[in-house]
Amino acid sequence: MTTVADMQHVGRSVARLDGPAKVTGTAPYAYEQPVSDPLHLYPVRSTVARGRVTSIDATAALEVHESVRVLTAENAHDLSASVPGDMRVLQDDIVHYHGQFIGAVLGATPEIARHAADLVRVSYEPADHDTELRADHPDRYAPEGIHDGSIVTDVVDGDVDAGLRGADVSVDLSYHTSGQHHVAMEPNTAVAIWDVVDGADHLTLYDSNQGAFVIQLFLAPMLGLTMAQLEVISPFVGGSFGSKTIPRPLHVLVALAARSVPGRPVKFALARRHTFVGTAYRSPTIQRVRLGARRDGTLTAIGHDVVVQTARFGEYGEPAAVSTRMLYAADSRSTTHRLVRLDVSMPGMMRAPGEAPGSFAVESAIDELAAELGIDPIELRIRNEPTVAADSGRPFSSRDLVWCLREGASRFGWAGRDPAPRRRLENGWWLGTGVAAASYARQHFPPSSATVRALVAGRYRVELAASDLGTGTFTILTQIAADALGVALEDVDVAIGSSALAPAVAAAGSMGTATWSEAIVGTVEEFRTTHGDAPAVGAHTTATPRPSADHEAFAMHAFGAQFAEVAVHADTGEIRTRRLLGAFDAGRVVNPLMARSQLVGGMLMGLSTALHEHSVVDHRYGHVVTDDLASYHVASHADVPEIDAFWLGTPDPHYSVLGTKGIAEIGIVGVAAAIANAAWHATGTRVRSLPITLDNFLTTEAAPSSSRSTR
Ligand code: MOS
Repeated sequence: MTTVADMQHVGRSVARLDGPAKVTGTAPYAYEQPVSDPLHLYPVRSTVARGRVTSIDATAALEVHESVRVLTAENAHDLSASVPGDMRVLQDDIVHYHGQFIGAVLGATPEIARHAADLVRVSYEPADHDTELRADHPDRYAPEGIHDGSIVTDVVDGDVDAGLRGADVSVDLSYHTSGQHHVAMEPNTAVAIWDVVDGADHLTLYDSNQGAFVIQLFLAPMLGLTMAQLEVISPFVGGSFGSKTIPRPLHVLVALAARSVPGRPVKFALARRHTFVGTAYRSPTIQRVRLGARRDGTLTAIGHDVVVQTARFGEYGEPAAVSTRMLYAADSRSTTHRLVRLDVSMPGMMRAPGEAPGSFAVESAIDELAAELGIDPIELRIRNEPTVAADSGRPFSSRDLVWCLREGASRFGWAGRDPAPRRRLENGWWLGTGVAAASYARQHFPPSSATVRALVAGRYRVELAASDLGTGTFTILTQIAADALGVALEDVDVAIGSSALAPAVAAAGSMGTATWSEAIVGTVEEFRTTHGDAPAVGAHTTATPRPSADHEAFAMHAFGAQFAEVAVHADTGEIRTRRLLGAFDAGRVVNPLMARSQLVGGMLMGLSTALHEHSVVDHRYGHVVTDDLASYHVASHADVPEIDAFWLGTPDPHYSVLGTKGIAEIGIVGVAAAIANAAWHATGTRVRSLPITLDNFLTTEAAPSSSRSTR
């Protein structure tokens, strides 16, 4: 196995190397790339949720300004036949969802384009639509696989019904989480230039994404281009959370628009409103959790059944029950997923797909079981700590969940907690504390490549198509490269964010650091073997080192324990989180400063999920109503409580070359359950539907403390 002998930089809190460029406004994001004489794109979007476009009248739009051009299914170029349903933009007259791109208006300025787009008149032949996910929806079905299709839909081991009947204590509960959108600070943007040189097409795409190579790989064939004919450039990215992982309809729209004006750049920045349709979102979930246990707390039966939505023309299944398969053991276990096709845009990956909503249900149910059993919820989890992954029987590469629970409890001040709910009333606020376990699986990602070059004066350049979403990739890859090469930080230039560089996986699935470090460390090793310790200037090596992690031998996950203290106002029901503390088993940490930001950021997003975020759909019209930041609430300054994260830091040599685990997603997992559990401890009211809003608590006074409310 490749190793790094001497770590001088890995493990240090190096400040962001790209920080000065960002705060001085000199770091060019996709939309800011200098291009000359661009046209600006404003989309025309459907105002019905299902049906056909019968006519588009662009007469008034074209009169706005001589620069205006209108692109529709009538005059757009054909895409290749194999393009998946959601990406068949401007190919026919069919409307699949409200807000679908049905045209593009180009103009010399953004204002001209927008004004002209407003004047495009569209007629429809609407059809009945259905946008409402229901647990008993008659069309629910079991897909071939969930997530990207690679995860088994159902795992059934033993008879859960019999297990529950034979249990000393059991719970059978339903949970609901609302749809969520990513709302990254930088909306999805792209600038496209379609050149025709000597009869050959070439598309340059400045694009905000999580991985330039991945966008190139999937988008090129849709546009009928070879890999060499599509260059994707995205050096700086302002957040994503999964919304920029793979090509979305906007990429096809801007590419088709650019193709209609060869040589002329076309700029497309989605308005905030546009990011709520067609850039993916987290499906609402309906989850049933059944747990059976012996008096001593030993789990004997676990059932976790999930219903989520997908689009009519494509399939993505939020894998909400998957982590339940390995987290706790029981004699009989069943985890299932059902999808319902609705007249909606494609759901997709959002931070901790599966684990985030799944942990809300399971970790709430564990808390409810603990209360039924009269066992402390931390103790109940520790009593059920498995020795191997319950689904695969494989040993864990490392699993320090018990450390997280115990050390977290100690730092949080759990000892002496009165287990009974509704006991602490201070200054008109009911106070309570809650806990939840967290896990996030290591993904099966293909290996990444890297290039190492010797520059003058003993300096090096390391290149790969990695991506920095604002998380610190530039900085940590420089730390890793410097240690692998045995030089100072100043002696390494790291280049990322372009498909012209060595192919690399996207910044997704919490796998960036693990995968890219493997590419860098292995390529440096090969570079040394080839060129020695004193390489000639210009000497270079590109390699794709073999991945070191063995999925057959180990179950690999990051773990964590989330602690929350909340206050619920006795009169108004207003709920505030007062404290959040996360304890994590995340392997070796490359940069504590940035790791803390990642983990705390994830926890805040968990708080936001618990109390604020709600993509409300008006089912009469089938559109997302809360499609701006005034109505789609994300946690802001006033919502940020006392918050901290800490970690064990022990390297896991089976997980990745440097012993790092992923930290991008584990932070969000379990937070919503910890807050809901704390809200119950404060008030005696169980809220099983996210987000938790004040109306849930307005009936507490009248209800007995053991009551269960379900919305
Ligand atoms: Mo992440 S949801 O894998 O981009």
